[in-house]
Amino acid sequence: MCGIVGYIGPRSCTSIIVEGLRKLEYRGYDSAGIAVVDVSPGAQAKGEQAKLHVVRAVGKLGKLDDVLREKPVPGTVGVGHTRWATHGRPTEANAHPHLVGDVAVVHNGILENHVELRRELLAKGRKFLSETDTEIAAHLIDIALQTESSLLVATQRALAQVRGAFAIVVVSRREPDVIIAARNFSPLVLGVGEGENFAASDVPALLAHTRDFIFLEDGDVAELRAEKITIMHAGQKVERPSKRVDWSPTQAEKQGYKHFMLKEIFEQPTAIENTLRGRVILETADIEEGEVGVTAALAKSTRRVILLACGTSHHAAIAGRNWIESIAKVPAQVELASEFRYRDAIVDEHDLIVAVSQSGETADTLAAVKDAKRRGAKILAVVNVVGSAIPRVADGAFYTHAGPEIGVASTKCFTAQLAALLMLAVYLGRRRGTLTEERSLSLLQHLCEIPSAMREVLEEAGTCQKVARRQLVATDARDCLFLGRGLSFPIALEGALKLKEISYVHAEGYAAGEMKHGPIALIDAQMPVIVVAPNDSHYEKIASNAQEVRAREGRIIAIVPKGDHTIAQIAQEVIHVPDVDPELTPFVTVVPLQLLSYYAADLKGTDVDQPRNLAKTVTVE
Ligand code: M6R
Repeated sequence: MCGIVGYIGPRSCTSIIVEGLRKLEYRGYDSAGIAVVDVSPGAQAKGEQAKLHVVRAVGKLGKLDDVLREKPVPGTVGVGHTRWATHGRPTEANAHPHLVGDVAVVHNGILENHVELRRELLAKGRKFLSETDTEIAAHLIDIALQTESSLLVATQRALAQVRGAFAIVVVSRREPDVIIAARNFSPLVLGVGEGENFAASDVPALLAHTRDFIFLEDGDVAELRAEKITIMHAGQKVERPSKRVDWSPTQAEKQGYKHFMLKEIFEQPTAIENTLRGRVILETADIEEGEVGVTAALAKSTRRVILLACGTSHHAAIAGRNWIESIAKVPAQVELASEFRYRDAIVDEHDLIVAVSQSGETADTLAAVKDAKRRGAKILAVVNVVGSAIPRVADGAFYTHAGPEIGVASTKCFTAQLAALLMLAVYLGRRRGTLTEERSLSLLQHLCEIPSAMREVLEEAGTCQKVARRQLVATDARDCLFLGRGLSFPIALEGALKLKEISYVHAEGYAAGEMKHGPIALIDAQMPVIVVAPNDSHYEKIASNAQEVRAREGRIIAIVPKGDHTIAQIAQEVIHVPDVDPELTPFVTVVPLQLLSYYAADLKGTDVDQPRNLAKTVTVE
């Protein structure tokens, strides 16, 4: 979705803003722009008005950067934006900032009542230069400024007239020493510096300048000055203490890797160590209370767990559902948040909702959670981004601590979610007495060994690259089937999603037992079939499914444990994974699938970190 960066302080702002926007490129965008308030020295004393420069360009951020290099704009107060089109095509006129009178506005989100507001404004004689809903907000602020003395009050008055999800940042030449930042259901953080302050859609944009962040609440409108931040909520001044974020600026850099996605695949062992740290207590074969966001009383009283998520997080949630039933023996179901929120699902105060989300901002998951909360359910957020919207609505948060994930295709956050959900299952089982100390100890010991098992799989990266070249790229594969059973079913779904989103090859993930109910009709000598067959109780069944594929001349790429011969004998390609506890196989089987997709995309030359049409944080429905 759109990215926003605002700066106020003593430094020239364009490079700070453009560099910040670069860190938000992963959010996806089609145009970019910047507005800078330019106060010439002594101008205010002479009663001269400041200038407001607006520069916009269609395409990648480099295009805006080129224009700014050719024609630099001076000024120490400004706001920049990368746009992911919702209302109106990606043209320069539709790019943000939108300038109306003395005011420039950038916006992320959707103003739901834009049609009626536009009609009212047109009736008042207002002229529109773009097709965007954002320009409406700029007009409303401009009108309010005619009677209000401050930009803060004018923005509050304007925003009281709009409905919808938005993060908005405003600058004006009338008040050159102020930035206004407002949030309602779209992400916006404030960075607190020394003698300077910042606003941005996400933390990585500002890590080069500060680690102290204020996470705005929905309905907050903040006035940023170089030395001071004032926050208003429902007309009242409120205090929002800043929080220190422990992500380092280098975590948001590629550090020599060709792409963020590849770096993040390789970071998985460390990410999981961070997820486990301080939570797994081998001495007591337990998970540290107070670390998972669920009290012991709630763990005991919960009658049912409902996991809600979208995309990759939904695949982690399917594995979580299996673990919560098999390990903790609590009835559990998993739902796509985008469907759950619109059906008459039965939810009550005996349910524990587990919302799984990397960003913590996904609009559908957030809405589904709010609805379940209204109906009395308790909410646990399993989230990576500290201070994001979902944990703020939830009763408890279980942060995955995977570090910033920049590649649009989620990898390390997925495996960190798996680790968190497995720990949650153990925690629930121990509190409810449904998991023995002996089995818990064995599971946790094996879980602690998972990072080194994943490092072993990563050593197979060269094999994955060759397989991707031979089976997916050289053959120009157009369709692929991913098969798995039990815990390998969500891994098959995840493998197919990864391949689709970054290499644009059509792929389907299927429960292998379902193959004969339809997809088997697709199989021929052109069809690569990725069979995920770790050493678990489903192995023999999936070996039979592999035979069925081979009998129809399908090309099998087998993900099998070391020492496997049965499936390897009939497969075109074999990628070995270490033999781990059957409950923990997803951690090792997903890695070769991530690498296959990565290398297929890289060899095809697609934009791996920013695949077309996709956004990292999906803050619209
Ligand atoms: O931030 P979330 O985990 O809630 O995001 C959910 C999906 O949008 C996300 O997993 C998406 O499917 C990724 N592009 C997958 O790689």
